[in-house]
Amino acid sequence: MARDAAGARLAFGGSSVTHVAADLGSLRGVRAAAARIRELLDAGELPPLRGFVGNAGVQYTNALTETEDGLEATFAVNVLANHLLVRALGGHFGTPARVVITVSDTHFGDLRHNLGLVPGPAWSAPEVLARPGAFARPTTATAGSTAYSTSKLAAIYLVHEYARRLPGIDVIAYNPGFVPGTGLARNAGPLARFAMRRLLPVMARTPLATGQDAAGRHLADVVLGRTPAPTGSYVDRHRAARSSDESYHPERERELWDAAERLTASYPSRPCHGCHG
Ligand SMILES: NC(=O)c1ccc[n+]([C@@H]2O[C@H](COP(=O)([O-])OP(=O)(O)OC[C@H]3O[C@@H](n4cnc5c(N)ncnc54)[C@H](OP(=O)(O)O)[C@@H]3O)[C@@H](O)[C@H]2O)c1
Repeated sequence: MARDAAGARLAFGGSSVTHVAADLGSLRGVRAAAARIRELLDAGELPPLRGFVGNAGVQYTNALTETEDGLEATFAVNVLANHLLVRALGGHFGTPARVVITVSDTHFGDLRHNLGLVPGPAWSAPEVLARPGAFARPTTATAGSTAYSTSKLAAIYLVHEYARRLPGIDVIAYNPGFVPGTGLARNAGPLARFAMRRLLPVMARTPLATGQDAAGRHLADVVLGRTPAPTGSYVDRHRAARSSDESYHPERERELWDAAERLTASYPSRPCHGCHG
């Protein structure tokens, strides 16, 4: 949705809405947005920060899409952008505060949760996952979907680590279920885009999928604390539930935190011609 349209919808009913634009695929862009939000908070132009929703996400038809930072784009947007924002805004949260990161059923990687439509995650060292070509046959749509499910597993790992490392803030992973009709298939071929836009929305009338309005309501319920969920938990649509067995892995969680810290640190990851100092 265009930013102005989104702002207008959010402001419906008299709420005050401020927007700060950011390309979440650019570390520089995310840093600049976080700095602007901090400025507005410090100046009292925004009320104390009580929540953060990391809902943006992408899926590509390959595992080779590269950002300006030399990162694989799925990992950059779905994992590192949220990490950078949570860290950059960390000191500005009031109490109580909730951080909610949108994840996905695809992290299970089994027939029951994905109807066999999306390959499961394929974990490896975070520094490898963060770079283009981390998965087998990286030019294929299967590799792109594997990058997606793996990024959602990574997001759950970080939620567990945030819960340990960010006292005073409730951090929750939210799974909307399959939500047909959104723009998530925008990078797919014409047939898949047509199916996502025109055919699959019919599924939203069955228990196999979630309508877009319901997914939005469930997300709002999590952020506003109307869905009871302890910090570090996984909310499946409207109730706290257990995520996959693989998603509870303190060693991977710590490793991923360390890598995310390194990857989002303020140095250019590639030689920067023309940079000084
Ligand atoms: N649809 C599903 O079946 C499903 C299932 C489970 C989880 N999810 C998750 O739900 C979340 C929302 O996805 P959706 O299905 O609603 O898809 P969507 O319609 O494509 O929404 C994705 C959002 O992410 C934003 N975004 C993507 N790349 C960005 C970037 N580089 N910089 C700034 N914003 C960026 C998009 O902004 P623009 O529109 O401005 O590009 C859009 O608002 C995602 O995290 C997705 O993984 C979706």
